[in-house]
Amino acid sequence: MEIVSTIDELRQRTDDARCDGQIVGFVPTMGFLHAGHASLMSAARASSDVVVLSIFVNPLQFAADEDLSTYPRDLERDSALAEAHGVDLLFTPAVEEMYPQSVISEVSVPSLASKWDGAARPSHFTGMATVVAKLFSIVGPCQAFFGEKDFQQLRIVTRMVSDLSFPVKVVGCPIVREDDGLAMSSRNIYLKPAERTAAVVLRLALDVGLALIVDGERDPGRVIYAMESVIHNELLAELDYATIVDVETLDVPTVLAGEVRLLIAAQVGRPRLIDNDGLVVV
Ligand code: PAJ
Repeated sequence: MEIVSTIDELRQRTDDARCDGQIVGFVPTMGFLHAGHASLMSAARASSDVVVLSIFVNPLQFAADEDLSTYPRDLERDSALAEAHGVDLLFTPAVEEMYPQSVISEVSVPSLASKWDGAARPSHFTGMATVVAKLFSIVGPCQAFFGEKDFQQLRIVTRMVSDLSFPVKVVGCPIVREDDGLAMSSRNIYLKPAERTAAVVLRLALDVGLALIVDGERDPGRVIYAMESVIHNELLAELDYATIVDVETLDVPTVLAGEVRLLIAAQVGRPRLIDNDGLVVV
């Protein structure tokens, strides 16, 4: 595995690979890697000739009161994990390399980015889409792997790629969970022991919502109310939103039909946790 820290170097490597007829697989991350990230690396490895992993804690997607300076980092452990999962090029640019001057260009996808997580974190998705666009421009034509864990992010990136004709194939990968169902996240490290136990309530709420739909419920309001009640019963969790959305528009449908996604966000101690699950309603 080669560690690359400049834009020019990475661009050279991926251009060379494509000239040799190789397919580039790209996994963008903010590091502090866990099994969720590993599943993306494995998916990239299985279907690409050259695997690029980026680790960049992107300041643009953190609000002033968020955890940019304390976001967990462990580059040594991350590079060992990346190497073990078959990464060929590890891109670890410094902030000055990515943003040598203040960034005045941005990519926004307002109708998808303003709701749900975007309502709680108003500048987050524009910062995210901007860095992902920049990374796509650096890596060049590739297949890029994103987790369904950040479902709204995945939808925004997919739509951005389609609207702006990026030469990128976006591949969504399933959520990797702990044994008790908690979705893996770099921020789970912030959970104190009692909060860690309580955090499984997000998964439980999704299960209750899914079971209602499987039993025939088609009124989104009733499903949402049931999910909210599960979270309200856990004293250590503070609900941000529980909802059920159409996967294309991310709006709540009037009647449940077709492919829908249950989304949930709650504060459990310090971290704000998100989770989701989906099904096709026939
Ligand atoms: P980060 O939170 O590090 O996540 C990197 C990728 O890993 C994302 O696509 C995310 O959905 C995926 N991921 C995280 N936890 C997962 C899990 N439990 N199961 C499956 N996939 C999981 O998301 C970001 O970084 C940033 O916003 C980024 C896209 C890199 C832009 O800065």
